[in-house]
Amino acid sequence: MNHVYDVIHRRRDVRGQFTGAPIPDEVLARVLSAAHAAPSVGLSQPWDFIVIRDAATRAAFHEHVMHERDVFAATLPDAAPFHKIKIEGVRESTLSIVVTYDPDRGSPAVLGRHAIADAGLYSVCLAIQNLWLAATAEDLGVGWVSFYREPFVQQLLDIPATIRPVAWLCVGPVTHLEQTPDLERHGWRHRTPWQQAVHTDRWTAPTPT
Ligand SMILES: Cc1cc2nc3c(=O)[nH]c(=O)nc-3n(C[C@H](O)[C@H](O)[C@H](O)COP(=O)(O)O)c2cc1C
Repeated sequence: MNHVYDVIHRRRDVRGQFTGAPIPDEVLARVLSAAHAAPSVGLSQPWDFIVIRDAATRAAFHEHVMHERDVFAATLPDAAPFHKIKIEGVRESTLSIVVTYDPDRGSPAVLGRHAIADAGLYSVCLAIQNLWLAATAEDLGVGWVSFYREPFVQQLLDIPATIRPVAWLCVGPVTHLEQTPDLERHGWRHRTPWQQAVHTDRWTAPTPT
């Protein structure tokens, strides 16, 4: 039990600490099997995991991410604080894992999804969190990169049009895991106390942050 809480609080989003060292096959298998053990609506297990080692594919994705970084920066009134923040470790990490969502898996009668279509997507996010925590328990770093357009990733990885890429995860050994999130260390945003997220009996207006 202590171990679970320790891993949850040790988990970090990693960009700058990847060493590029290999991941033993049995470690990767444990992490992927933990991801696949996630709960899913109607037991649809709507996820797939594309393990990408190919350097050219990762370089092409990295170039796309850099472009999207510029697109986001152009929306900011003052981009200077953003420019100091590293937002990916695509080339430095050992490998990437793209997690996808197939809404047709187990359909049409997905038990529990008739009223909430997003329940399928929620299931994929739980698989991602399982993967992230298992990787942390294995002393690996994970960095979630979302600076991309879905059609670009679909084309790059031959993903069919009906299947959505949900996350591009950079994975690998790290020098260390920071104790404080990067965005907090750079003064971008700060974590709020958990008590602020808890309401009793009915919704009450959250304190603005
Ligand atoms: C859906 C999702 C997308 C994210 N996309 C990015 C990203 O593109 N680049 C990045 O540097 N971090 C990304 N992150 C990481 C968050 O910035 C990070 O989780 C947050 O700052 C808290 O830090 P921690 O995960 O180390 O606790 C993403 C996280 C999530 C959950």
